[in-house]
Formats: sequence, structure tokens, C-alpha cells
Amino acid sequence: SRSIDLAVIPGDGIGQEVVAEGLKVLSAVLPQDVKLETKEYDFGARRYHATGETLTDADLDALKQHDAILLGAIGDPSVPSGVLERGFLLKLRFAFDHHVNLRPSKLLPGVATPLAGQPKIDFVVVREGTEGPYTGNGGTIRKGTPHEVATEVSVNTAYGVERVVRDAFARAQARPRKKLTLVHKNNVLTFAGHLWTNIFNKVAEEYPEVTTEYIHVDAATIYLVTQPERFDVIVTDNLFGDIITDLAAAVSGGIGVAASGNINPSREFPSMFEPVHGSAPDIAGQGKADPTATVLSVALLLRHLGYEAEADRIDEAVAADLTERAELPARSTSEIGDALAVRVAG
Ligand code: IPM
Ligand code: MN
Repeated sequence: SRSIDLAVIPGDGIGQEVVAEGLKVLSAVLPQDVKLETKEYDFGARRYHATGETLTDADLDALKQHDAILLGAIGDPSVPSGVLERGFLLKLRFAFDHHVNLRPSKLLPGVATPLAGQPKIDFVVVREGTEGPYTGNGGTIRKGTPHEVATEVSVNTAYGVERVVRDAFARAQARPRKKLTLVHKNNVLTFAGHLWTNIFNKVAEEYPEVTTEYIHVDAATIYLVTQPERFDVIVTDNLFGDIITDLAAAVSGGIGVAASGNINPSREFPSMFEPVHGSAPDIAGQGKADPTATVLSVALLLRHLGYEAEADRIDEAVAADLTERAELPARSTSEIGDALAVRVAG
């Protein structure tokens, strides 16, 4: 019989609240014969303050045993900037080789956008997740002096670029519009930019049905606002992907509905699914957080594990809920979760 063994990391701030709703909807959508097992882990600010640990080798060994990971949010103002980002989130993405950072953007009916004329937005960003300027290669000399020099080296390997470019082509091929846009800055970052462009053009030869284009990242930020409908699949570097997916979330309903998957397509290690938003300590514990982004991340998780029909049911439930939301009085985090759970079960 089928089973899902899930590691659950609620984390900090609103992470606790939104993950509870994500699990509620997950339990409701799964058929009777699928056994769901969850194990909760206490990573985040509290553990860091109590023990000084963010993510140990023993933790990684424990997480490795699961089929997938559901994460709420990690981060708190009481922890110095960079400690949990590098020590937990990036450490996990790197250790489990989450090289495909998948971030879909779809403007659903009834959802407000700051853009004029309710444009048709339906694209997915394939953000590289293990290289670029995120690798922590760099350093500082003459620190604290007026002549301090800080470098932050962007690492791009042919192996790392090719595998994420191939993943993006396969995704584009599987979508009706079959279009793939490479976003980079190859007019300035000529070393990395040319590596990306050359590999992109080489892999393109194997996908004659996929329409390709190249756009510099600065121009891409304009098009994401003025012509978001032009995008279908975007493939890009880790840092550019970080930036443009926040913009993408802002134009397609906000971070309350932006989901993501940190995916290891080879399944050598478990993939991790998380809302794009952070821990929002200012509204934590008040039932004000929108669990929709976490629920949509659960749908990505189910799709990754092969539960396509269940993932579709969640997407449909969210679409229906969002359509009605404008007419409903404001609901709490758990009221939204309850409504979604009822919809996916029914
Ligand atoms: C994200 C976040 C992270 C990133 C930070 C918290 C390390 O902004 O998931 O987009 O930059 O990848
Ligand atoms: Mn980000």
C-alpha cells in the first residue's frame, strides 16, 4: 500500500500556523489507502537560542530518511542576519542538492494584482538552487578599514547549469505553450552569462518544439510588469531567480499565494516544499497569515511524489476559494484551511 513519510518543519513566526493548515489539507485530500506519517522537527530560532545549532549532520541524516519535507518559515529578528539563512535554509538546499527551485506564478480569477487590466499570468520560474552567488565563495580583506575589499564569487559549473537548463526544457515541452526564456545578464557577466547561453542554445537543439528567447534580467523586470503574459517557463541563475520570483509573486496575487519547491529531481535526497514568504514575526500567532501559499506548496509536493490527481484537487480548491474570497468577510488562518480541507475532501 502507498505511504508518505513527511518531515515537517514549522519553523518560526507564522510558519507554525500555516504548516498546520497545509497538513490539514494534505490529510483531507489523500485517499484512505495512503498512509500519511509525519515527524516534526524543531529547527529555527528557538533551537538556535537553546543550543546554538541550526542544522547538524545528525539532523541531515534524520531528514534524509523521509520522502519529502514541508517547511513553514525560518527566521526571527532575534537571530543575526545570515545565521539561519546560511546555517539552515541554504545548508539544507545545498546538502540535499535542491538544484531545481520551482516557483510557479499564476494569477487566479478574483485575485487582486497591482497590474492594470487583469493580465493572463501563468508561468513558472525554474531558479537554479545550488550555485551562483549563493555558494558562499568570497571573502574580505582589510576588514573594517576604508580600503576593505569584499568579494562574493558566483560559481557556475557546466554540470550545474546543464542539469537545470535540461529540467526547464522538459517542463516547457510539457506545457501547452512550449516556450522557454533564459534570463541572465550576459552583456556584463560575460563568463557566467556565456556559459548559460551556450548550454541553453545547445540543449535547445534537442527541443525543436520549444520556442526559446533570451532576456537580460533588468529587461525581464520590466516585462514581468508590462507583459507578464509573454512568459511560460523561465530558467535563471540562483540570485536573479530569487529577485524575479518576488516580483513575480507581487504581480500575481502576492506572497500570500506564492508556493515553491526545492527539488532534487533524481530523488537521491528528499525535496523540500515551502511558501515563498518568510516568518512574518509582526503578525505571528494572531491567525492573520494566509495559509494558501503553504497549501499550494503541498500541491507541488504531491505532484513531485506522483499524486497528480490530489495535487489537481488542491489547485482547484484554492482557485475556487480565491474566487469567492473577495465577497467573503476576512477569515482567519485556520478558517481558510478548514474551507480548503472541506473543498478537497468533497
Ligand atoms: C527565498 C529566500 C532565501 C533565498 C533566503 C532566506 C536565504 O529569500 O527562499 O527566496 O534567498 O533563497
Ligand atoms: Mn527570496
